[in-house]
Amino acid sequence: MDGVRVEHMAFGSLSITFDATVLRPRPWTVHQARWAADLMRDAPPGPVLELCAGAGQIGLLAVAGSDRHLVQVDADPVACRYAGVNAERSVHTRRGGVEVRRARVDDALRPGERFALIIADPPWVPTVAVGRYPDDPVHAIDGGADGLEVMRRCLTAIGRHLAPGGSAVVQLGTLQQAVTAGEDAQPLRLLALRSYRPRGVLALLRRCR
Ligand SMILES: C[S@@+](CC[C@H](N)C(=O)[O-])C[C@H]1O[C@@H](n2cnc3c(N)ncnc32)[C@H](O)[C@@H]1O
Repeated sequence: MDGVRVEHMAFGSLSITFDATVLRPRPWTVHQARWAADLMRDAPPGPVLELCAGAGQIGLLAVAGSDRHLVQVDADPVACRYAGVNAERSVHTRRGGVEVRRARVDDALRPGERFALIIADPPWVPTVAVGRYPDDPVHAIDGGADGLEVMRRCLTAIGRHLAPGGSAVVQLGTLQQAVTAGEDAQPLRLLALRSYRPRGVLALLRRCR
């Protein structure tokens, strides 16, 4: 946060603080938070997990009307600092509480931890296409050869840590990516897609019976 211009923007009912070294919050992703909030009403008891949280706005908005505990994970220390700042200001801090973990998806969770709802927003731009987004930090958007490398790690974590009866809402770039990710998602099943072309796609996953 030193030597860079700190910015603020509205995200749903929240005011989010960030700078250009993390991904600028994208307004359309309020739909991910709202879908998660809807699913949360019928979810089993338990906390909420956000993987690849960045400045934390999607998870914070999702839990804003609930008293569920929120765990937010990101590998980038600057993103985690902003997530902490934004959590401090969020109404939710006075209810269920927020924990920010600076860690890679593979290392962030303890065996036996279970979450009623999981949100994931990993990088999904194929490495060859990263140059099309010169304003975005590469580490926040580079999803490897097919754009799905971090998503696959998220799916592994979701498969291990989603509570029985729980739901996951994940973000991808295209419908084709969503279908490919769904094919690799065992023990999860892709149940629904919502397209916000050309900005992105949301997918709902649940554990196979
Ligand atoms: C597409 S950005 C999304 C950030 C935020 N959800 C948003 O909408 O602004 C992806 C985030 O994933 C983080 N990230 C990338 N690889 C990761 C990994 N292996 N484990 C944890 N976080 C990772 C990046 O630091 C970045 O903040």
